[in-house]
Amino acid sequence: MQKRVLVTGGAGYIGSHVVKALGEKGHEILVYDNLSTGHRESVLYGELVVGDLCNTENLAKVLKDFKPDAVMHFAASIQVNESVKKPLKYYINNTVNTLNLLDLLVKNSINDFVFSSTAAVYGMPDKIPVKESSPLIPINPYGSSKMMVEYMLKELSYAEKNFNYISLRYFNVAGADERGRIGQKYKEATHLITCALKAAVGEFNRLEIYGTDYDTPDGTCIRDYIHVNDLSDAHILALEYLFEKDISDVFNIGYGCGYSVREVVQAVKEVTGIDFPVCEIGRREGDSPVLVADSSKIKEKFSWKPKYDNLSYIIDTAWKWEKKLH
Ligand code: UFG
Repeated sequence: MQKRVLVTGGAGYIGSHVVKALGEKGHEILVYDNLSTGHRESVLYGELVVGDLCNTENLAKVLKDFKPDAVMHFAASIQVNESVKKPLKYYINNTVNTLNLLDLLVKNSINDFVFSSTAAVYGMPDKIPVKESSPLIPINPYGSSKMMVEYMLKELSYAEKNFNYISLRYFNVAGADERGRIGQKYKEATHLITCALKAAVGEFNRLEIYGTDYDTPDGTCIRDYIHVNDLSDAHILALEYLFEKDISDVFNIGYGCGYSVREVVQAVKEVTGIDFPVCEIGRREGDSPVLVADSSKIKEKFSWKPKYDNLSYIIDTAWKWEKKLH
């Protein structure tokens, strides 16, 4: 059934892929985005309202006029390392802005909410792959800012009988639309696959590996890379679940397969056929040594079936997109 969905941050990398998936399902979409890191042309479906989440007056008006059945909340600051240097930026953009948004949702009786959470809430988990039930002990302000929202959501859903949410803890999202319409495009690239592709295309003169002395088999950090389309499908399933059921829940989304930084760099060289320069430097602040998802819960509950669980495919779609930008 067609629903009205407000998507904050829907012009951004992940938000725009979910908007595409929502549009393909025929939902009516309104994107609310300040275009700080997003792009007007990335919104393939629905209407875009350029606005800031901290402008609560504007946001209240948008909610009153559009009357969404559900809100999907992507707008956030997302760089682990930046969060260590500018913690308050993260608590304002991620925690305070979400608090104000939730306040408006309650006031307007908007009861279904999908939240972009992160694997960074786990910090340095004892057990890998990490389950949702693992303790939340973030090691950087980014993870803390998202964990605080998870606490608010849990308590709000207890207090407000009709309010339900699904929190999706993303692992490392990468790749691009298979038709090359949308992909990752930040003023300053920081994510590993994008940085390696920029080294391959010659925009960066080299790829820097941040830390080779971690307690991992090759000394570099290990991450679970998931294709943005599989992540988008999980959002659609989460939304449909919220429309059908009166339940809130939290899910990991990753493939359960970890690759070290060195392995990713090697895979990027193989996919692109370019042997770009690589330089090993010191650790980046805030990095967790290993983050790999146990995603059995979302597979069981939502019958989520990843289709693009292949690092070379992920890199290939991102490579096609990156080449288009040059
Ligand atoms: N890295 C490099 N060189 C680079 C870029 C990254 O060595 O040029 C390393 C990082 O130090 C890290 C790994 O590659 O060990 C992955 O780094 P990313 O910046 O690509 O991603 P993060 O793991 O830091 O963070 C991402 C998202 C977060 C999310 C997290 C979950 O940005 O929002 O994945 O695992 F929380």
